[in-house]
Amino acid sequence: CGIVGVIGAKPVTNILINGLEKLEYRGYDSAGIFVNSTHTPAQMVKTVGKIAALKAKLTPAVDGTVGIGHTRWATNGAPSDDNAHPQFSADDRFYLVHNGVITNAQALKDEYLRDVHFSSQTDTEVVVQLVAKFVQDGATPTAAFYRTLGLLQGSYAFVLADADDPETLYVAKNKSPLLVGVGDGAYYVASDAMAMLNETKQFIALQDGDVVILHRDRITITDLDGDFVERPTFTAKLDAADISKGTYPYYMLKEIDEQPAVMRRVVDAYLPADGSVAVNQSLLQALDQADKLYIVAAGTSYHAGLVGARIFEEMAGLPAEAYLASEFGYHMPLLAKHPLFLLLSQSGETADSREVLVNVKKQGYPVLTMTNTAGSTLSREADYTMLLHAGPEIAVASTKAYTAQIAVQAVLAKALGVFRKREVAKDFDLRHDLSIAAAGMQTLVDEKEQVKNLVAQYIPNQQHAFYIGRGEDYPLSLEAALKLKEVSYVHTEGFAAGELKHGTIALIEEDTPVMAFITDDVTAAHTRSNLQETEARGAHTMTIVSEHLAQPTDNIVLPDINPLLSALVGIIPAQLIAYYAALGKKLDVDKPRNLAKSVTVE
Ligand code: G6P
Repeated sequence: CGIVGVIGAKPVTNILINGLEKLEYRGYDSAGIFVNSTHTPAQMVKTVGKIAALKAKLTPAVDGTVGIGHTRWATNGAPSDDNAHPQFSADDRFYLVHNGVITNAQALKDEYLRDVHFSSQTDTEVVVQLVAKFVQDGATPTAAFYRTLGLLQGSYAFVLADADDPETLYVAKNKSPLLVGVGDGAYYVASDAMAMLNETKQFIALQDGDVVILHRDRITITDLDGDFVERPTFTAKLDAADISKGTYPYYMLKEIDEQPAVMRRVVDAYLPADGSVAVNQSLLQALDQADKLYIVAAGTSYHAGLVGARIFEEMAGLPAEAYLASEFGYHMPLLAKHPLFLLLSQSGETADSREVLVNVKKQGYPVLTMTNTAGSTLSREADYTMLLHAGPEIAVASTKAYTAQIAVQAVLAKALGVFRKREVAKDFDLRHDLSIAAAGMQTLVDEKEQVKNLVAQYIPNQQHAFYIGRGEDYPLSLEAALKLKEVSYVHTEGFAAGELKHGTIALIEEDTPVMAFITDDVTAAHTRSNLQETEARGAHTMTIVSEHLAQPTDNIVLPDINPLLSALVGIIPAQLIAYYAALGKKLDVDKPRNLAKSVTVE
């Protein structure tokens, strides 16, 4: 979910709405705002649906000098007008927006709020009703807020408004990200700096346990006990232009097209022309002492981790394995003697990954975060950080962050291999390989019409599809399948080509699309026979093949590249297939149903 808040002298409704539009990537099943001022009545508008639906419900009269807003990704309670935020107290006095999940909401409701009328199924309403109850019992709003926070278990980023007091906003953070923007005679609150970049570039990143009381001209930050804490202000480096769509119909297409430029940025950032690798020396020492690298991530980042693990093993001779963060956090395998953890995360905010970070740091193990978001929670809390340099990724389906993650893992693998004086790493001319990748990606995105035509022949009217591959092409198939299913809603599975015949081949019917990646010399012939096995059962087969292995009948030819990096070019047609499949169905490509870009709940 995304949250915003403003307290100042100017009208706030547009600022809130613009901010929410920037945060829609965090969820978009319902949205709402609450505004207030000293001379107009407090008002709330909320609705199920996207921000556009909220805008349609607003009238010019809905404005004020203080306000809060929310765009939701449902956790507790289905998307509905009632469950949309702000949630409010039964006496209509307090209004609250919330990211996160309060795990003891039911217990608190039973203990304190038996007689109170509830209008939603949300955990958030329990919190705002508690504040109101403590105020009715005689506490000041500030004291009631602290007392409520003291009772909560779970994760939260809160902004609370008091309809009786348009001069104050109450803010608190635990586990869910939250920033305060510092303006001229105004303060802003947002779960991502992007939301308030049009208003200010000065931000304060709140820490877990911080409680903030905002007035238009002053800010107070304390811990949960009320003791003052100091938090530095930083300048956001993001530019509002970086996050515009320009002439593109969708961010996803813009971000697919940006990938050659991202490869060049990774080269500029890490691989100077003298052949050295610009990586922190103490990180290399720590990695050199490690006996296993645990790559932990979610979604697309996990798929990038699967590719990275092989590069670390080959180049640096370091055993490496990728794990799903949501599993690893609670069911850790028996660890090696000297583990080092690599958390891969585009957003740097994924709660599943953060849980692992907190857990392994507690055990004293070194942690590296690779993220696209400088200053994100995971990058702040790790011992080491490497930036992906992909630039803001807005479309929910990740594209350029995936290829950047593979490239930056390769940078680190090369650096470690050289540090360990391994010949294979010295010979790994990554600067050259990444420029080959960039040029190859460029050719593929330039020929997108060809992919569009293939999509028209293969995908419409299909309920199911498969990507298959072996070796490096297997994790690539997983990512290709995720892309297609998340944006086009065609149920797609990625499969190890040789495993298909051991059960899943039963699903192949007349015209089921089966798309094979063939980039590996050793197994190319095997994958081709696996594809024929599906064709014999009616499948509509498509081949995506490296140039040196290509035959005249192949459908998409990939430029030749270092085999360890083949996913960098292989994924481009798959991203385009997903894009055009969704476009053909007239779906909202950037905001697929049920998803959110940054999932800050476990
Ligand atoms: C969400 C997004 C995915 C993303 C995953 C991990 O589920 O919808 O696209 O891959 O989170 O996100 P991260 O920011 O940690 O890479």
